[in-house]
Amino acid sequence: MSFPHSRIIGTGSYLPPRAVANEELVRELAARGVETSDQWIVERTGIRQRHLADAGVVCSELATEAARRALAAAGLQPGEVDLIVVATSTPDFVFPSTACLVQKALGAPGGAAFDVQAVCSGFTYALAVADSMIRTGLASRALVIGAEVFSRILDWNDRGTCVLFGDGAGAVVLAGDERPGVLAARLHADGRYESILRTAGNLCAGKVAGHPYLTMDGQAVFKLAVSVLDAVARETLEAAGMATADVDWFIPHQANVRILHSAARKIGIPLEKVIVTVDRHANTSAASIPLALDLAVRDGRIRAGQNVLMEGVGGGFTWGAVLVRM
Ligand code: ACO
Repeated sequence: MSFPHSRIIGTGSYLPPRAVANEELVRELAARGVETSDQWIVERTGIRQRHLADAGVVCSELATEAARRALAAAGLQPGEVDLIVVATSTPDFVFPSTACLVQKALGAPGGAAFDVQAVCSGFTYALAVADSMIRTGLASRALVIGAEVFSRILDWNDRGTCVLFGDGAGAVVLAGDERPGVLAARLHADGRYESILRTAGNLCAGKVAGHPYLTMDGQAVFKLAVSVLDAVARETLEAAGMATADVDWFIPHQANVRILHSAARKIGIPLEKVIVTVDRHANTSAASIPLALDLAVRDGRIRAGQNVLMEGVGGGFTWGAVLVRM
């Protein structure tokens, strides 16, 4: 059976319990001889704390907990889902996919399950893929999850990157429907910029080959992010036949509060309509958008019938937007 549309019918999220405030991180880094300050981090990024997973906690565990909460919000049992898509760049294993591990943990065998790798744009990619699969009859109810343990790929001696990221997971249940939920989606990549943000390592002959830590040209990322977020917002709104004023809530990827504000200003969305979690969660890559969505649904800001514009941007270089009526 195929449906003309898909809708988000439940959201959930999970943060590892250990919240590390800037002051604590600054002390831990000082003990390693890495100099930074709460003031620098807050002024340049807006980040005040991040959640970090304990040693041994893996991506699929965070993803499974977020998925359970989204299923509960949707009033569904795990077995009622026939597709699981996990957006992540920090999977448990090279293979099997994190989505298969989530499916096993939920006890819901049989449906399709796979990972999407588009770094911080991953959730927008995964949502667009699941929407397409529902509309073409390949699935009827999907769990779409963004989950990351980015702390595992950070070089804690590189103050330019290690203060920026956190761990967490967010999920939605997307279900086939007669009424529109996902109104439009647009996805892009430009591999010519692959080197400005990457973790350029892999496994080879039983050893790590290359560089297994995240590296970034922060200023290049900043400039490109603001410009592509603006372009893809306009493109997506046009595809839906809507104007900027029709957007009730804007959820950009939570990389840095200065990027969020610059992007919103450029698009013409007032800052009161921007959901911001980067201060509490830092950058959780593919998890950042569904984490922010779930937070704002649960605190009552995002309500049924409202239009939410979600935008991702990240390594690849990748970017994408999904406009959703809740
Ligand atoms: N604490 C103190 N000083 C620092 C730190 C730190 N944690 N990190 C860098 N510095 C220093 C640098 O060494 C440099 O010192 P110098 O002038 O003596 O050489 C100075 O601060 C300025 O460094 P820049 O890298 O030029 O700082 P900038 O103002 O560009 O801010 C930042 C860096 C916050 C990363 C910025 O470039 C940015 O916001 N970029 C966007 C990238 C981003 O948010 N990435 C997240 C992941 S990407 C994504 O999700 C899409």
